[in-house]
Amino acid sequence: MTHLVVKEVIPEFVGELSDFPFHAIDDRVVKELRAAWTQYPVLRFRNVPIGDAEQVAFTRALGPVSYPVKQSRGKHEKFPEILVISNKGSGDLGDGEVTWHTDMWYIERPPSAAILRAVELPAAGGNTYFSNMYAAFTSLPDALKKRLRGLSIHHQSVLDTYDTVRLGKESPSSSDFASWPGVDHPIVRRHADSGKPCLYLGSVRAYQSIPGMKQQEAKELLDELWQRATDRADVWYQEWKPGDMLLWDNRCLMHRRDAFDRGSIRLMHRTTVEGERPLAAL
Ligand SMILES: [Fe+2]
Repeated sequence: MTHLVVKEVIPEFVGELSDFPFHAIDDRVVKELRAAWTQYPVLRFRNVPIGDAEQVAFTRALGPVSYPVKQSRGKHEKFPEILVISNKGSGDLGDGEVTWHTDMWYIERPPSAAILRAVELPAAGGNTYFSNMYAAFTSLPDALKKRLRGLSIHHQSVLDTYDTVRLGKESPSSSDFASWPGVDHPIVRRHADSGKPCLYLGSVRAYQSIPGMKQQEAKELLDELWQRATDRADVWYQEWKPGDMLLWDNRCLMHRRDAFDRGSIRLMHRTTVEGERPLAAL
């Protein structure tokens, strides 16, 4: 019986697996995979010998699938579990930069895991960057950590990253975004598997508010947290190669994507695993 071999890329952040037994995933493999993933929130798999059906099966091995939020783009013609991310056809996200975010932060139970598999890649560009929110939290001055106790962010669910009204939502009638529909998530969440605290900032910074705090004060606090979370020396990036697949933890990481040449094609298939409602760590 062979065990999974995980090569450390960055301690407590990024690991790499080769020869993962995609066609023989049993309880032991899942247990070892979970242990590796708790240690390395980003796991890279190289030369994956799989297609869409196997990606969905791999995703299900980690827990119930979190289906993509209904939107006009990104539908996979055969697997509703898959979000198609591409600059061609009806794919989602186009060819531009995608700024720092966590996935589906505006729902009650954002996904725990995101799995992204390269199907077709541009010659250059389209790298995916990760920032570690455990480390971001640990690096905060004690006084700032204390200030975050009991605080949440109100994540409005009306406008998306491009300021477009989401499918099924109504255009906001008031400019007071703190009153828009959405969810509140704690700013510092306790990770359900590792038990460790991490920052959880979501996305669409411009329309974030902190319940119970005046807007100007909240803006200054959020500006500082966002800067500390994203302007870090230890950001790691994935330069995609054919056959690459990433499994990352959407609870304790933020990610962003570079733009790429619009004349080329970038086609990625993403699946996600259901997560829990974020629990406050402070
Ligand atoms: Fe994303």
